[in-house]
Amino acid sequence: KPEAVIFDLDGVVTDTAHLHFLAWRQVAGEIGIEIDERINEQLKGISRMDSLARILRSGGAELRFDSQAKIKLAERKNALYVASLQHLDPAAILPGIAALLEELHHQHIRVGLASVSLNAPRILQALRLKGQFDFCADASQIEHSKPDPEIFLAACAGLGVEPARCIGIEDAQAGIEAINASGMLSVGVGSGLEHADLLLPTTAELNWPLLQTFWLTKHS
Ligand code: G6P
Ligand code: MG
Repeated sequence: KPEAVIFDLDGVVTDTAHLHFLAWRQVAGEIGIEIDERINEQLKGISRMDSLARILRSGGAELRFDSQAKIKLAERKNALYVASLQHLDPAAILPGIAALLEELHHQHIRVGLASVSLNAPRILQALRLKGQFDFCADASQIEHSKPDPEIFLAACAGLGVEPARCIGIEDAQAGIEAINASGMLSVGVGSGLEHADLLLPTTAELNWPLLQTFWLTKHS
């Protein structure tokens, strides 16, 4: 069996992607840029400052703001986002995830988190899942957003496991690419994802027997 399973946060453990979108839409609107849900797909797994850069580029506004002004915009977005997290509680854990986490512990499989969100600790706290993760990669130590494998490699290092002995779970294309580049096996949840070693429609289909069968198929 695998030594560890490493989870993305937003879109896998809980669905905060829409809250990110609402906060960005507000900030973008304030500087005259309209964004729709399509751009949100491209912001999944992308760090706060990289997301801002993409939004400004989409509005042809990348030269309108110096780095100080960009930091202000990112801070404004984060304040709105954090405020919207206020009502987050364990009811927001996505289907199948709580049971899978418990079963992995039962199987003595290590559990890691690989999110580039600086709000990850706060979110796990609100979901009351902190104790379920053996190691959470520290987003503030990461230089490159997904699709770079850096955050997944940091999670493996923190858990003391070889990437080749791990499974990574992601809902974003950039995240699948990051897992694949790290040498882990990738599980994608959602539609329209490419290159996942295993693709499931939602987290509700995720469970240990399925992951075990998947692992054995890839290691026979
Ligand atoms: C996750 C989300 C992204 C978000 C990033 C940074 O990867 O999928 O949409 O931009 O985290 O989040 P933060 O909470 O640090 O702004
Ligand atoms: Mg995600």
